[in-house]
Amino acid sequence: MRILAIETSCDETAIAVLKAKKTKTGVAFEILSNQVSSQVKIHRPFGGVVPNLAKREHIKNLPILFKKMLKKITPPPPLTLRGAESLGSRASKLDAVAVTSGPGLEPALWTGINFAKELAEEHKLPLVPVNHLEGHIYSSMMRNPKFEILNPKQIFPLLTLIVSGGHTELVLTKKHLEHKILGETLDDAAGEAFDKVARMLELPYPGGPEISKLAKKFHNPLNPPYLKGDKRERLFPRPMINSKDLNFSFSGLKTSVLYYLRDNPKTDKFLIAYEFEQAVVDVLVSKTLKAVEKYKPKTVALGGGVAANDKLREELSRKLGAIGHTLLLPEKKFTGDNAAMIAVAAYFKFARLRRGDLKKFVKPENIKAEGGLKL
Ligand code: KG4
Ligand code: ZN
Repeated sequence: MRILAIETSCDETAIAVLKAKKTKTGVAFEILSNQVSSQVKIHRPFGGVVPNLAKREHIKNLPILFKKMLKKITPPPPLTLRGAESLGSRASKLDAVAVTSGPGLEPALWTGINFAKELAEEHKLPLVPVNHLEGHIYSSMMRNPKFEILNPKQIFPLLTLIVSGGHTELVLTKKHLEHKILGETLDDAAGEAFDKVARMLELPYPGGPEISKLAKKFHNPLNPPYLKGDKRERLFPRPMINSKDLNFSFSGLKTSVLYYLRDNPKTDKFLIAYEFEQAVVDVLVSKTLKAVEKYKPKTVALGGGVAANDKLREELSRKLGAIGHTLLLPEKKFTGDNAAMIAVAAYFKFARLRRGDLKKFVKPENIKAEGGLKL
């Protein structure tokens, strides 16, 4: 089957078309088109995403990406937009339209939902609403342009650390679409902390990649200027690293960076970036290991925008490797928001809807944006 998916939950406008086919060992996917348009430059002067600007840009970009998507697929699917003549071929016919319905910025989510509703109605296709976080969970298993998601027995229970601009969660998935949140942030998300500390260092938005770049240039971590005797001193705390639960907190860490900069205004940015990144990674790695020990998952995965962070990728892989686990890492192409991951999540939802073991298809007119949607 072929699924067209739309993602507009934050500041990326994205449309993708995927082909999925059941095999003996799992489901074989092929990405036929994966269009992403980032609005980062538009939001940068404001130091973060402005919801109404995001909405305006999504409305402008969706038809542009839609046309690009059609051009990428040969023969193109028989799709039209607003009654225009279709040039496509029935051989590429779609079977469903999917759209992110939450969590995210509601004005932004609505643009994708309205566009998807129009398409689904015009072509009489089922419309599948998808939880954005479910997309991030599957992203670790995706490869460009072809990949297979193995049968449930091979992957579940799956433990995923989702780290993005809006979320920091440890999620245990027992079967497709059935998740348990084991722990989450009590205040700021990890990506949000990166963005806020970047702002203190006068680095552009989004701050994660900028901080990571500076931290990599801090060459001498074992012999830094802040050695006390021969003991290396940590500049910042590791919040909640010793708490018994699997929750996180990053707002105190952010504040301690603020105070440190206030009291030591001449400290170089490379050192701050290095120490801050290390503090975040230490906490994320330690809590993930704690969850592995307690829940003994079959597979462990990383997902979300912060999954692009090399230090996190390396340290988590290495420490899991030491206890016999391989970490599923998303290709960098799929760490940020994209519609291909939404299509994958939609495939598994669609399959269960068709089998009738989930509540009936929601009527397209009843699908709405849910900014605070949970897993
Ligand atoms: O998943 P995503 O694209 O959007 C949300 O759903 O939030 O995540 C965006 C977040 C931003 O906070 C950004 O600073 C962070 O991911 N990020 C990184 C890196 N690349 C992106 N954080 C740390 N290191 C990176 N290399
Ligand atoms: Zn995201």
